[in-house]
Order: sequence, then structure tokens, then C-alpha cells
Amino acid sequence: MTETPLEELVLGVAEIDADHAESIAVWKLARDAAPAEFPVRLTAFVDHLEAHFAREEALMTAIAYKEIAHHRDEHARVIAEGRRFCAQVAAGRTMMARAYAIDLVPDWFRRHVLMFDSEVARVAKMAGVA
Ligand SMILES: [Fe+2]
Ligand SMILES: [Fe+2]
Repeated sequence: MTETPLEELVLGVAEIDADHAESIAVWKLARDAAPAEFPVRLTAFVDHLEAHFAREEALMTAIAYKEIAHHRDEHARVIAEGRRFCAQVAAGRTMMARAYAIDLVPDWFRRHVLMFDSEVARVAKMAGVA
């Protein structure tokens, strides 16, 4: 089965789509980074995710989104996971973090957009925020 490229997972809410495009771009820089650049690139990716999630949670608050607690918990889990890999890399252990950047991040991103963010976008559009 051919999977939809991450760039094509567009939800029709400008601020969400802009954050997703930026997250994908920053993720690719980490995925493709040379060893010397990998720590900085991976940290930049997790930093961007954290800002992206904060903006998304503000949007959920603005539209009184009912599933905000569940969605916020998932964001927090992902940031904690990303920070653990950054800490491993900072300690010189890069193998698992590389696997995270290559395989886990795109799988997670696809699932998260389809399962979590698409519903926020749907409700935001109904609320007239989009
Ligand atoms: Fe999200
Ligand atoms: Fe998102």
C-alpha cells in the first residue's frame, strides 16, 4: 500500500497546515542531518513541535474543543519522548534517536494528523475559526 506523503495531509485550517508544513520541513532536516548536526537538528524539531502543539492547544481552547484533555496528553507524551531521545543524543547515544527520526516520527505524524488533528480542524471549521 502506498502511503500518502506527509505533505499531502492538509486539513484546510491555515494555522494548523502551516505548522504541519514547518514540522515536516524541520523533521526532514533532522532525519537527513550529518552526525555532527544531528543533535541540533533533532532538538530544533522537538522545539518546533512543542510550539506547534501549544498553538494547536490554544486553538482547541478557543473553540471549546471537548477532547482537548486527551489530545493534550498525547502532545505531552510525544514531547517527553522526543526530549528523551534528545538527551540520549546529548549523551552520545544516537542509534535509537536515529531510528526515531527515520521511522517513528513519520509514522506517528501521519497517525496523529489523521486521528487527532483532523477532528480539531473539522470542529474549527464548524466554529468558523478556519
Ligand atoms: Fe495535535
Ligand atoms: Fe498538529
